[in-house]
Amino acid sequence: MPIFLLKSFLSVVVLCLTLLAMFTMFEVFGRGDKKYNIETLKKIHRINGIVYLLFFIFIAYLCLDFIVRTRAEPSPRAAFHAVFSMAVIVLLSVKISFVRFYRQFYGKVQTIGIIIALTTFGMIGTSAGYYLLVTKFGTEKMPETVFKKVVTGKIDIMVKADNESINNGKELYESKCYFCHDPLSNKTIVGPGHKGILKNPLLPVSRRPATPENVAIQLKNPFKDMPSFSYLSDDQVQEIIAFLNTL
Ligand code: HEC
Repeated sequence: MPIFLLKSFLSVVVLCLTLLAMFTMFEVFGRGDKKYNIETLKKIHRINGIVYLLFFIFIAYLCLDFIVRTRAEPSPRAAFHAVFSMAVIVLLSVKISFVRFYRQFYGKVQTIGIIIALTTFGMIGTSAGYYLLVTKFGTEKMPETVFKKVVTGKIDIMVKADNESINNGKELYESKCYFCHDPLSNKTIVGPGHKGILKNPLLPVSRRPATPENVAIQLKNPFKDMPSFSYLSDDQVQEIIAFLNTL
């Protein structure tokens, strides 16, 4: 099972746990004439919280392992997902500390509980929700980006030669690459100069063949110390390559 599908299924469990946590909390604090036994509800709420935490830690482990293995620069969506999950950790710690140690703040616990639930929805929506929607609940593959196809050797990149692509590529280059690369010489700034980069037979540092595919791979999975640019869209990669081709 692909790791994203596994993670998404686990997240659906977390979603159910969140709903159960809200239900038990509302029953305890929200109802005037109690329908269920309060002590039982509190117990369920506590056990529910522990199971939530175990799932959370396991899913976070999967995410961190993926980041370390791919060394991928997060997309804006993944960044939102990460911020939501960190907020959940902070809020949960605050809530537990109010319940256990700082009892004077006990009155705030219910509000924090609701915020944790909302943050959990945000966290799951930006990852599992998106994944399950795009893959029609795991029945279809994620649409492959040009990047992925290049990395798995499925297609070759067509180098664009129209002025618009080259100009867009130049702008991207000036904002993202110029800091470390000189386009007009082979002098090293932080990375090697790019003059003639696609006209030479080999790339300067890795000594891989100087093909547009290998430049695309360098942007996603840099050879050594260069930061990853895997957040760039397929079009942007092609535009940068179009510009590099003119050097
Ligand atoms: C923070 C500095 C930095 C930035 C920004 C940067 N690079 Fe690099 N680049 C490097 C370094 C260092 C290397 C040497 C190889 C390595 O560490 O991967 C390199 C190597 C390369 C190579 C040669 C790879 C090889 O196989 O020899 C290419 C092509 C390249 N960069 C393209 C780009 C492009 C295009 C951009 C902008 C989107 C960019 N770089 C932005 C630092 C940078």
